[in-house]
Amino acid sequence: MPCPFHNPNNPTDPFREPRERDGVLVNNFQGRDIPMVLRHEDLRKAARDWETFSSDAPFKVPIPTEEDVRTVRQLPLEVDPPEQQDYRAVVEPFFNRAKLPEVIVRMESLVGELVAAMRERDSFEAVRDLAIPLQSRALAILLDVPDAEAKIWIGWGTHVFREGNGTSKGAALEAYTNALLDRAQASPGADFFSALTQARINGRPLTRQEMLGYCSIVFAGGRDTIINSITGIIAHLAHRPADFDYLRADRKRVVGASEEFFRALSPVTHLSRKCTRDTEVHGVKVAAGEFVSLCFSSANFDATVFESPDEVKLDRRPNPHVAFGFGPHLCLGAAHARLVVRTLLDVLCGQVARIEILEHTWKTEDEPGYTRRVAADRLQVRFYSR
Ligand code: HEM
Repeated sequence: MPCPFHNPNNPTDPFREPRERDGVLVNNFQGRDIPMVLRHEDLRKAARDWETFSSDAPFKVPIPTEEDVRTVRQLPLEVDPPEQQDYRAVVEPFFNRAKLPEVIVRMESLVGELVAAMRERDSFEAVRDLAIPLQSRALAILLDVPDAEAKIWIGWGTHVFREGNGTSKGAALEAYTNALLDRAQASPGADFFSALTQARINGRPLTRQEMLGYCSIVFAGGRDTIINSITGIIAHLAHRPADFDYLRADRKRVVGASEEFFRALSPVTHLSRKCTRDTEVHGVKVAAGEFVSLCFSSANFDATVFESPDEVKLDRRPNPHVAFGFGPHLCLGAAHARLVVRTLLDVLCGQVARIEILEHTWKTEDEPGYTRRVAADRLQVRFYSR
C-alpha cells in the first residue's frame, strides 16, 4: 500500500534535483516566473532578511495569490516588522492559550471522544469523519468559542477559500466573519472575536478590516495544514506499524515524533516574499518588485542538514525543521498545531492497536516545474481497538 513517504515512483521531495544542482528553481506560477529558495541555509537567511524579502504584499504572500478569494490583508502575515510585531502582540495571548493546562485537558477529551467514536465503526473516511471535525472543534477550543460554532466550520470542507474545483467561496467566509464580529461587538464575551473588537493597537481600536484580516488567517492558515497533518500521520502509522509500536513503548516519544511528522509532511509547501531591491538568490538575479518563494518543503529535505531526509525517523535529533517558517513570521499557531498532533498520537497509542487503509486517493500540487503529493484527498481506514 503506497503511503506518502514510501512510494519510489512519487518521491516525497520533488525539489532535490534542482536544489542539488544550483540551489534555486525558477518556476512559473500563474504566469509569473518565481525563483524558489530551496536550501535550508538560504531559506533561513532570506526569512530573517525582511528588509530585502518583504511580506508587505497583500494577497500575494500565498502562492497561488489570493486577490480573487479575499478582500482583506491577512494579519500579521502580510506586514513587515516593526508594525508586524505590534500586530502580532495583539493576538499572541490567544495563541498562547494552547499551553494552558485547562486547554490541554479539553483537547485530550475532544480527541479521546473522536477517536473512540471512529473505533466503533467498521471503517471511516479520515478526512471528512475525523480530520475536519478535529481541526474545527480544536480551533473552537483555542478561540474560546462554544463547540456549536465549530459545526458551521465543519461544513466548510478542507479549504476555506476554494472549492475542490477552484471556485471561490471567500465572499461567504467574509460575510460569516463580519456577522461574528457584529455579534461580538454587541455583546462581548471572553472569546477571540470579542477580544479583537476590544483590542487596541498603538492606542487606537482596530478597524473592521484589521479584525477581518486576523480572522482570515485564523480560519485559513490553520485549516488544511492541520487536516493534512492528521491524515498524513494516520496513513504513516497504518503503513509503518513498527513506528506505532515505537511510540506506544514510550508515549513521551510523541513530542519528538510530532516534529518529524511536521518536517516530513511540510504542510505549507512555500510562501512568497516581494524583493524591495535588486538582489540575487543563489546566483539568480531578482529585480526589485519581483517575488521569490521560500520553499519550506524543500528546506526540510536538505540532506546537508537532515540525514536520509526521505526517511521518517521518529527519533530524529536535532530536528531544525522549518515547517512553521523561520524568523519574525514564525507560525503563531505552532503551539496549537503541536498540541493537536501530540494529543492525537498519544490517544491513538492508548486506544488503537492497528490501522488499516482500505482505500485512498492522494491530493497533489501540480505545478509546471513539479508535482508534490500533499496529503490524502480520501482515506478510508479501519481502527482496530487495543
Ligand atoms: C501544521 C500546521 C501549520 C503549519 C505547517 C503552519 C505553517 C506556517 C508557516 C510556514 C508560517 C510562516 C509564514 C511566513 O513566513 O510568511 C505560518 C505563519 C502563521 N500561522 Fe501557521 N501553520 C500551521 C498552523 C497554524 C494554525 C493552526 C494557525 C491558527 C489557528 C496558524 C496561524 C498562523 C499565523 C497567524 C501566522 C502568521 C504569523 C506572523 O506573520 O507573524 N497556523 N504558519
